[in-house]
Amino acid sequence: MSSLSGRQGPRYRHLAGEGEPYETIGVEKLTPIIGAEISGVDIGAMVSDDIRSNRQIDEIHRALAENLVIFFRDQHITPQQHLAFGRKFGELHIHPAAPHEGDDPALMKIYADKDSPRANGEGWHSDVSCDPEPPMGSILHIRQCPPRGGDTLFANMYAAYDALSDRMKTYLGGLTALHDGEPIYRGLYANYGVADRPSYPSAEHPVIRTHPATGRKALYVNRGFTRHIVGIPRDESDAMLAYLYQHAENPLFQCRFRWTENAVAFWDNRCAQHRAMWDYWPHTRAGTRVTIKGERPV
Ligand code: SIN
Repeated sequence: MSSLSGRQGPRYRHLAGEGEPYETIGVEKLTPIIGAEISGVDIGAMVSDDIRSNRQIDEIHRALAENLVIFFRDQHITPQQHLAFGRKFGELHIHPAAPHEGDDPALMKIYADKDSPRANGEGWHSDVSCDPEPPMGSILHIRQCPPRGGDTLFANMYAAYDALSDRMKTYLGGLTALHDGEPIYRGLYANYGVADRPSYPSAEHPVIRTHPATGRKALYVNRGFTRHIVGIPRDESDAMLAYLYQHAENPLFQCRFRWTENAVAFWDNRCAQHRAMWDYWPHTRAGTRVTIKGERPV
């Protein structure tokens, strides 16, 4: 038995139990720990039907809180309906660097084809965690899928926190880390003709954050944006972050979503990280993302 499997058992137990039954949506868990497919929701109809949607929106909120990422299949929505769905959950966030589709800067373009130098979100990250108030959630609609591949992986950062030893929780508890967009975003979207801004956001956030809705603690450092832990020697920070990234990426904390055309994923950036697989070259994968503003992590 490997040392990792020897560490399983209670350390890797997920705390979320089965909640109350849902009345207006179906919720089918993908794994015991993260991810659920939602049925009974027509996003296009919902955004123009306030009476039904308010009850469904409450239950979608709950399903998101319980599962961290939720998926809706066969949603033939327009860009306007996608934006309107996002606004049901809060004000929309404008990405500091990425190109948008059409006129609305809140409709972020997600696109890779045979000529792309890269694809969005190829490493583990929490969206725009370099913002002083990073986005609460992101809603991705994929319109065009490659014949195979292009899955997205999601990881539960409550479970990553819960699995740390009590000594490690105490050590990390008072620490903050610098998240910086500059090294990521500068020049990143040049292939779309996007000119660089004079500067990109950076912010110091707690290494362990408390989710404002669930009250649960989550590990909040990621390979994409976190640069160093503040107030400790740089070599100690590097070693600690390397350990935490490896720990956070344990497959035990993950689910993997296989896209179908017109599926929608809605994830909570405050307690989940994600990673997109670019394993489908030379094929095309295309969609749009709407991102919802969040609060300063505490
Ligand atoms: C992202 O928002 O990071 C991209 C995710 C994806 O394309 O699956």
